[in-house]
Amino acid sequence: MTTLAGRIAGRIREEGPITVAAYMAAALQDPEDGYYRRGDPLGRGGDFVTAPEISQMFGEMIGLWCVDGWLADGAPDPFQLVELGPGRGTLMADALRAAAIRPAFRAALRLHLVESSPGLRARQAALLADARPTWHESVAGLPPGPRCTVANEFLDALPIHQFVHTAHGWRERGVGLDGDGNLAFVDSLPAPPDLPPDLPIGSMVERRPAAEAIVRDLARAIAACGGRAVLIDYGHGAGHGDTLQAVRGHERVPVLEAPGEADLSAHVAFADLAAAARAGGAAPWGPVPQGRFLQSLGILARAERLAAARPAARATLAAALHRLIGAGAMGTLFKVFAITRHGAPPPAGFTDADRGAAA
Ligand SMILES: C[S@@+](CC[C@H](N)C(=O)[O-])C[C@H]1O[C@@H](n2cnc3c(N)ncnc32)[C@H](O)[C@@H]1O
Repeated sequence: MTTLAGRIAGRIREEGPITVAAYMAAALQDPEDGYYRRGDPLGRGGDFVTAPEISQMFGEMIGLWCVDGWLADGAPDPFQLVELGPGRGTLMADALRAAAIRPAFRAALRLHLVESSPGLRARQAALLADARPTWHESVAGLPPGPRCTVANEFLDALPIHQFVHTAHGWRERGVGLDGDGNLAFVDSLPAPPDLPPDLPIGSMVERRPAAEAIVRDLARAIAACGGRAVLIDYGHGAGHGDTLQAVRGHERVPVLEAPGEADLSAHVAFADLAAAARAGGAAPWGPVPQGRFLQSLGILARAERLAAARPAARATLAAALHRLIGAGAMGTLFKVFAITRHGAPPPAGFTDADRGAAA
């Protein structure tokens, strides 16, 4: 049992079973032993690899998206460039380098980073020192003003609630203790009354109020002050089915096995985010497949230029490109969701057909 598992078990002995969301919050963000409060989980030596760590091309395309959006929004000066969960800072470093094609963009931006991990903040500080970032614990702490927000694999790390349709009606899944005192799932907590009555027994619905609140806040700020957001994650349209997973050293492990020592994440339900964006008074776009999005921003031409400049790296570049845009790889598993003001034309990488239904 990890140190954190022992502390969670003690809490359950005192309070009874806790929700899956409370378990996830403790496993990832416990101030002493939470997964994201410890070291650096990214990269080949860590637990997982993200798109910006695969190739500089990913962050470069996001940088161009921001420049294009800033121009479309009337080139506000100053404006906030915000990243949620910047990891090692790689995406932002690549984005800023690509954005140098518009010196006025670089001069107008004020960089704000929302990051909970002290270790990752230190890495971001080292890599992004030139842009003099300001850090925040949450989106709610960002100052008002026009804002372009980017996030990659941030929302999937926020806690989910899981609800199970049992023979006795809907129940919230919790984490309790088995006969040996080990952490175990229990389907016994009371559930809210608004779950769909027509799903078969055994069905599961996942909800992520923390992500919805963030998207609502971003949308309110966009409606009030202008700007836009692009959020990239793996996920599906609606939150049906058990998608909670734990990953350690690039391998799936049981979710309750090693809290604090394995990454926990779950699919993002984009339909819920679209509803949250509308509730915040802004227009949702997509989600569209990452591969399509990156290609419409010009990643193929960028890969060709990089390969021409570094012929010895052509095969490596081709492999990275395939991982980012290939069907069955990140190109279809990951989706891109955007938020603009109502009435704005499609943001780069989207078409009129990707407009959220009620936008
Ligand atoms: C899966 S990593 C992705 C990192 C980076 N975006 C990338 O693509 O490489 C998740 C990031 O979000 C941060 N994070 C997770 N939960 C957070 C929270 N509740 N508040 C602020 N940052 C959080 C982590 O510390 C980490 O930087």
